[in-house]
Amino acid sequence: MRIAESKIEEIRNSIDIVDVISQHVQLRKRGKNFIGLCPFHSEKTPSFTVSEDKQIFHCFGCHTGGNVFKFLTEFHKISFVEAVQELAEQQGITIEFDKAEYTEQQSEQEVLYDINTEAARYFLNNLLNDDEGEFARKYLHGRNIKTQTLRSFGLGYALKGWENFINFAKSRNLNIDKCVQLGLIGKNSEGKLYDKLPGRLIFPIFSPNGRVIAFAGRVLDAKDTGAKYINSPESLIYIKGRILYGLSFAKDDIRRLDKAIIVEGYMDLISLYQSGIKNVVAVSGTALTDDQVQLLSRYTKNVVLLFDADVAGIKASMRSIEILLKRDMEVKIVSLPKGEDPDSYVNKYGKEEFEELIKRAENFLEYESKHYESQGKFEDPSTAAEAIRELVKPVALINDELKRNLLIRSIAQKFNLREKLIESELDKQIKQVKRFEKTDVKVFQNRKAEETTATLIDAVPEISPVLYNLEREIIKLLFEADRPVAELIFNYLHPEDFSNTLNRELFERVKDEFENEDNFTTSGLVGVLNDERKETYVRELTFDKYSVSSSWEDRFPSITAEITMMRFAKDTVVKFVMERIEKRIQSNRREIELSDNEKKHLELMKANNELEQEKKRIREELGE
Ligand code: CTP
Ligand code: MN
Repeated sequence: MRIAESKIEEIRNSIDIVDVISQHVQLRKRGKNFIGLCPFHSEKTPSFTVSEDKQIFHCFGCHTGGNVFKFLTEFHKISFVEAVQELAEQQGITIEFDKAEYTEQQSEQEVLYDINTEAARYFLNNLLNDDEGEFARKYLHGRNIKTQTLRSFGLGYALKGWENFINFAKSRNLNIDKCVQLGLIGKNSEGKLYDKLPGRLIFPIFSPNGRVIAFAGRVLDAKDTGAKYINSPESLIYIKGRILYGLSFAKDDIRRLDKAIIVEGYMDLISLYQSGIKNVVAVSGTALTDDQVQLLSRYTKNVVLLFDADVAGIKASMRSIEILLKRDMEVKIVSLPKGEDPDSYVNKYGKEEFEELIKRAENFLEYESKHYESQGKFEDPSTAAEAIRELVKPVALINDELKRNLLIRSIAQKFNLREKLIESELDKQIKQVKRFEKTDVKVFQNRKAEETTATLIDAVPEISPVLYNLEREIIKLLFEADRPVAELIFNYLHPEDFSNTLNRELFERVKDEFENEDNFTTSGLVGVLNDERKETYVRELTFDKYSVSSSWEDRFPSITAEITMMRFAKDTVVKFVMERIEKRIQSNRREIELSDNEKKHLELMKANNELEQEKKRIREELGE
């Protein structure tokens, strides 16, 4: 069911996002924008921002944002089509459905969601009704999973054989290439297609808003030699490290109880949920990531780790503790009896016993010191010193000074040591953390990133901060610009001038729009980049506290907006070009110093001369 693009356009143009959101969120005006308390996460000071100019919203706390349809889909947990219908009704616009083409708004992502939804229904139907599903039904009942529960989680079964899903997909006109992208269908080197999950129990994986974004298939047949679980590959709608399994089911309870329990497996979560413990999410076998912690922190700051009692589980706990502490989460850890996982435990002992277990959760110091104790580390003074150092390490990650001091006191008391001693150890560690962070940036900028810094790479631009900021300013400008400003920018700058890939791609996208659209405007572009990461980035630039508009207004008060914007643009372009040319000049100079080849010297000096000329020319053209 597709709605004609022109209709969507008509509806979007007929309403004002500020009016729509005001029906649900109390907004007040601040500068050019409106702000209010975010309806998508709990907060006390407003970070939810709405732009009337651009007809978009964005929350700086939880990074949710988009156009008016996005707001309604998230707020009411409805589909895109339903959101369009709701607004159409309010506006008295009648909509026809257009079967032919995908509309711009029903972006590529929507198509993928649709395929996954159809696939999930198909797998569920196999599990409930197909003769072959009998084995899977028995298996689940053998594991004490009730029919009601498997329905809630949308579990399913994929028929054996290599073409059952393919035939289903064809019968439903699903786009086969997209099914391949989503990992539902495989393609061998000869291009032959085959079902990816035959004979497996299917767990749909949901986004926080309850849309199917991926699948996991668990073996049922003992003869199946494949992996125990096969997971969908990452795709446009699924980034593994950013998802917590079960969050869409758990989020209300997590908020209500202000506490989240983190387990490892799908079955752990489902069994706990069935027994009435619903504030649970699963990391699905991978190590907890910083993105996952950020996601969870929208709902609570209190976390209980409940990992398996094996070596892998303990390791995972230790690593997760660090990641959680860095984000100022309160962490507690529960140890299960040997050989149990949360699923087996709750099935054996029931809900009350399980709740008792949670009540006995230890703080991370108790947990870690017990662990070192069990390794006999405190029996020998030298290993004891080492263990205490290890204990201080995670404390150094905590930002809150008061909390740090309390923890130090408790370490001192526990091991009967002078607080000063622990404090000086802590100071050392903090310095090390800081030094590590600093060298990280430098090392990376020299493009000599070592393996140990791998996790920070994402956050650190590959270029000098000055250049990086200028790149961002240019992109910001492009998304606020009118035609003349865009023209100026495209005259002087080219995609390859941008070192940051994201900036470069966005530059290209706007350039494309500029060259191919007669009535060039970027305000609509923000909502249709068809890439969540890009859209979030641009929204954050747009709403930036130091956004272009406010900086130019500060700099050039009392002149009209168009003129000041043009001046600001020229100013920024000059700085950007100068900075880049200057870098090249410097690098040539270094080469001159290092080389003793006469001819090379001359060449480089000539090049620098030309670069100086270019600097002069641009200064003159764009005059300050
Ligand atoms: N996992 C995975 N791939 C594997 C093995 C495990 O993705 N090959 C992930 C799954 O998310 C799984 C979790 O790691 O849920 C924990 O693994 P495990 O304890 O082996 O599985 P359980 O969830 O306990 O499954 P079951 O109880 O059915 O054995
Ligand atoms: Mn298990």
